[in-house]
Amino acid sequence: MNDVQELREIVNPVFKTAKSCVQLDAASGDEDSKRLMEEMGFESFGEHTDSVKVPPELVEQVKRLAPAYMVVIESRYQMTNNLIDARADRQIVDLPCGYMSRGVRMNRQGRRYLGLDLPAVVDVIGPATSNVIDEQGGNLDADVRYHGVDATNYDSLREATRDVSGDLLITTEGLLMYFTQPELEEVFSNIHRILEEHGGSWAIADRAMSKCDESLAAAALGNDTQLVGLYKAVTASAAGKTADFEIGNNVFFDDDDEKVKAFVKDMGFELRLVPAYDYLPDHFGSLRAAPEREESVREVFREVFLWELSVAKAGQPREYHGKSFSADAVVEGSLLRFVVAGRLDTLTAPEFLELYKSIDPRSYTGIEVNMQDLEYVSSAGVSPR
Ligand SMILES: C[S@@+](CC[C@H](N)C(=O)[O-])C[C@H]1O[C@@H](n2cnc3c(N)ncnc32)[C@H](O)[C@@H]1O
Repeated sequence: MNDVQELREIVNPVFKTAKSCVQLDAASGDEDSKRLMEEMGFESFGEHTDSVKVPPELVEQVKRLAPAYMVVIESRYQMTNNLIDARADRQIVDLPCGYMSRGVRMNRQGRRYLGLDLPAVVDVIGPATSNVIDEQGGNLDADVRYHGVDATNYDSLREATRDVSGDLLITTEGLLMYFTQPELEEVFSNIHRILEEHGGSWAIADRAMSKCDESLAAAALGNDTQLVGLYKAVTASAAGKTADFEIGNNVFFDDDDEKVKAFVKDMGFELRLVPAYDYLPDHFGSLRAAPEREESVREVFREVFLWELSVAKAGQPREYHGKSFSADAVVEGSLLRFVVAGRLDTLTAPEFLELYKSIDPRSYTGIEVNMQDLEYVSSAGVSPR
């Protein structure tokens, strides 16, 4: 791994979860994901994990949980694919694209696709996807691209979408639960501005999946109480260790639908509830060892909806958090003094780390950071590691 890539991964505590998503898609039988994983050098699901230490006596039990994890990610991925297929005229903007194989699929279908994620992720998935597309002959009608962004940073989203045309379908799977409330509002405001400029809609799977996660897992595990209990314990432990903050700690994941609807309206969006049941895959690869559970898994989705938002009224752009980032360092006596200014987020934090690494650690014994002009620190930008 090169230095910049390593720095980027240090400041992105969530990227490991993206890796498990593509591992689970591959484990469910998605051939594109399997091929991409080879290209990216990822091991198979469950081969290696450092996020949860499993006591030896529970290893066999934990392995039996695999279909539950697989079914959650497979249904999210395939439902969004089916929704994309149903909106055949749209330019797809996948935020966050993670390491998913959707770019390969979109190329095959001759679609226009823009995968957006933090730079550490797109720098891996972008080249891997082009290699797989080249190997498969490529489809000249398609336009598959990737761009590094930070969803909380409007300028990065505007820059990434500058050259796209036509109505957008922005798809979001596995993102909004990582934001604090102010960040969530910033992301909503950013997407509102992007949709005002381009037209189209924003389809979000995150609320739907958080609502049904446990019942889905239970159905996939044949409602075995012991296994379901273990699933909850392992999931809670993994969530706590993967990210050093509370997952789902913002209004979008509030139990009260009405409160969330009011928030969405307040942010200038109109809401359309899309019945998840209508977009399920024909077969669940994750249940191939227990196909009799398919029906109860499918039933879980009867009352589940994807949230599709479009612009209802012109928004009032929020006060934008932060000018561009700058950092200076000087060693005075035994003190290393930093002066940082502007906006510190996932896009700018590696710059700060690089500056820090460039200074000989033997030249100082203490560090002082002047943050007087630091306007904004994104919690998605700085991991306390
Ligand atoms: C759980 S993964 C989901 C990825 C993908 N949608 C999937 O289902 O496989 C979360 C993704 O969000 C990305 N992410 C986290 N914070 C972000 C931000 N502020 N802006 C853009 N992407 C972000 C991470 O890099 C990671 O790829």
